[in-house]
Amino acid sequence: MSLRQSKQKRPRREDKQDRNPWPLEEGVFDRTSLITLTKFMKKGIFKTIDYCIAEGKEANVYRATTVDGGFVAIKMYRLRSPSFVHMQQYMEGDRRFAGTRNGIQLIHAWTQKEYKNLSIMHDLGCRVPDPIAFKANILAMEFLGVEGVPYSQLSDTGSEDPNNDFALISADLEKMKMGGLVHADVSEYNILMTDKGPYLIDCGQAVLTSHPRAEEFYKRDLENLRKYFSKYPDFKG
Ligand SMILES: Nc1ncnc2c1ncn2[C@@H]1O[C@H](COP(=O)(O)OP(=O)(O)OP(=O)(O)O)[C@@H](O)[C@H]1O
Ligand SMILES: [Mg+2]
Repeated sequence: MSLRQSKQKRPRREDKQDRNPWPLEEGVFDRTSLITLTKFMKKGIFKTIDYCIAEGKEANVYRATTVDGGFVAIKMYRLRSPSFVHMQQYMEGDRRFAGTRNGIQLIHAWTQKEYKNLSIMHDLGCRVPDPIAFKANILAMEFLGVEGVPYSQLSDTGSEDPNNDFALISADLEKMKMGGLVHADVSEYNILMTDKGPYLIDCGQAVLTSHPRAEEFYKRDLENLRKYFSKYPDFKG
């Protein structure tokens, strides 16, 4: 990824992160997650966890540093208070995860689902983070950022070229559909604006095109995109 980046794309949280060098307070990681993280470290996936990039509804995403000074993103699904009902909707009828039912099992399957979805999307040539590994509730993937600073969401940066950005994302959605997947949670919050254009993230809920609601989700994704970009007067949709 190019090292050149416009100031606009730098996260507004950057200053805060610099002032807060110890953001991983005691007690944030449960024992099971610590064991999984240790396994990742032993495999050489990362050397240190640096800070929390974002706390989402279901997971926290951390920046981690590798032995050779590169970065990876670590997405850690919360084992407590996750939204099981929401998750189940996107697992139903998915032959890849038939029989998955209870809490922890569901989180593990969801983590694996995000890894598998990312692998398929990446192999199809879609702009999504390259998945690296998964185990239990933790997923390691390509860090989308420059000089260690994560890229911002479309909701923060806005678009300098709405027609082109819309075309790139909708082309990726089409590519995914042809490859058998529907993202199912496209919004300005799940798109990171990189030097290579918009990247889709947060792919755990993506469903197979055989899912009973796949077509509905695909239409909703496109609708969400159109709705967002239509705030730009020169957007042609
Ligand atoms: N590969 C990545 N590289 C850099 N930053 C990332 C990466 N993946 C996620 N992030 C950051 O973490 C945030 C949360 O990621 P994501 O949307 O995947 O998690 P989530 O828990 O599902 O979030 P939410 O519940 O808010 O949708 C993103 O908005 C982005 O800022
Ligand atoms: Mg998200």
